[in-house]
Amino acid sequence: MKAIKVGLLGIGTVGSGTFHVLRRNQAEIKGRAGRGIEVTMVCRRDLAQARQIVGDADVVVTADPFEIIRNPEIDIVVETIGGCDLARSLVLEAIAQGKHVVTANKALLAVHGTEIFAAARAKGVMVAFEAAVAGGIPIIKALREGLTANRIEWIAGIINGTTNFILSEMRSKGLDFATVLKEAQRLGYAEADPTFDVEGVDAAHKLTLMSAIAFGVPVQFDKAHVEGISQLQAADIKYAEQLGYRIKLLGLTRRRDTGIELRVHPTLVPMSRLIANVEGAMNAVVVQGDAVGTTLYYGKGAGAEPTASAVIADLVDITRLHTADPDHRVPHLAFQPDAMSDTAILPMAEVLTSYYLRLRVADEAGVLSRITTILAEHDISIDAVLQRESNEGERQTDLIILTHETQEGRMNRALAQMQGLNTVLAPIVRLRKEELA
Ligand code: NDP
Ligand code: HSE
Repeated sequence: MKAIKVGLLGIGTVGSGTFHVLRRNQAEIKGRAGRGIEVTMVCRRDLAQARQIVGDADVVVTADPFEIIRNPEIDIVVETIGGCDLARSLVLEAIAQGKHVVTANKALLAVHGTEIFAAARAKGVMVAFEAAVAGGIPIIKALREGLTANRIEWIAGIINGTTNFILSEMRSKGLDFATVLKEAQRLGYAEADPTFDVEGVDAAHKLTLMSAIAFGVPVQFDKAHVEGISQLQAADIKYAEQLGYRIKLLGLTRRRDTGIELRVHPTLVPMSRLIANVEGAMNAVVVQGDAVGTTLYYGKGAGAEPTASAVIADLVDITRLHTADPDHRVPHLAFQPDAMSDTAILPMAEVLTSYYLRLRVADEAGVLSRITTILAEHDISIDAVLQRESNEGERQTDLIILTHETQEGRMNRALAQMQGLNTVLAPIVRLRKEELA
């Protein structure tokens, strides 16, 4: 059978990885897909760079991505340009032209996914996005197909390598955030503008996609609670460790009776959990299903070839299903369109979690009792308390409190009251804690 023809929109890190792995492993990939998968067109503005990447391969190089999309010979378009505006136009145009799309672009799908999947459904084409979440880890496949028997209860993931690297370095070397961020940029982990990574936005994009697939709800990035690590202090990482916890930037989505939690924030995780020991730029996702129990997926969340591994898996899937009746393909978001749910994403005030609090307090009689009274008045139960011995002559100290699970709104009210005490000397640090049991 004739090879299926692929056009790469963007041949940077992911595009070039895809190009090279496809060529290197072409015989095995063909054996699995049932026919060859050939890149015949690539696009980037820097044509010399593009030509250098494709070498002597028989590939058309262009600076105009629409030239690829409008070429009737191309069956599948791979979007690895990134960003939202141009990528959205390209993907919608490719769909309109009847082409299948593979994309690594989580920002695009988290924000415009509903529109894109609807357009693809109407046109009977596939939009595949394994590479958009956790790079080389086949988590989309696992959620959409491998775990299809389960009612998913929750997902917790370390889904941003840059921030996990920063947190690992802060913990192991006792360094502050700004110092480690510079090191991450020097090593090429963090972008020159690392905002999306360190402020949790990239992780929230990925979490939004996993949540949609797990619970059969539309992608709703705008409803996600997003908090990054830029305000995290080395002292809290140290105290957490003394209490048996590691701090990770977790993406967490959980089904509750009242709705779905969708949140990204620094989180204390018991050191005994495997996910707490995922270090450096690695990613990991824990999925809790009612039948299977807990499953864990670990691997590289970024990089040319790990991400290419996911892009090519999608290319193989599309090649296999290319001729199938669209109604018999795997639905984009795991559930058939008429089985999607309108379960609401819960506002953060209704989220249930437990807390780590650090209060800078005057070291005098009655301080602890006033604070615990406020917590008791709000029906918040204390799990553990740690008070650092104050330094000679300092007359103030850090008070660390771990609580049991409570509602965020309730904790907000208690925090406001505690912050008003004249013996609380600095803004209270509040971090969330998850046992992931
Ligand atoms: P790169 O910046 O390395 O590559 C982007 C490519 O697109 C370049 O070849 C660039 O070439 C080309 N490009 C950009 N704008 C245009 C344009 N207007 N017209 C034509 N070509 C253009 O990005 P990555 O490969 O790192 O990322 C691509 C996507 O994959 C993003 O959505 C990213 O979030 C996602 N992703 C990346 C991962 C990674 O490890 N890097 C992991 C998982 C997902 P030129 O500038 O010459 O035009
Ligand atoms: N910036 C992302 C990360 C790349 O650090 O994980 C992969 O999406």
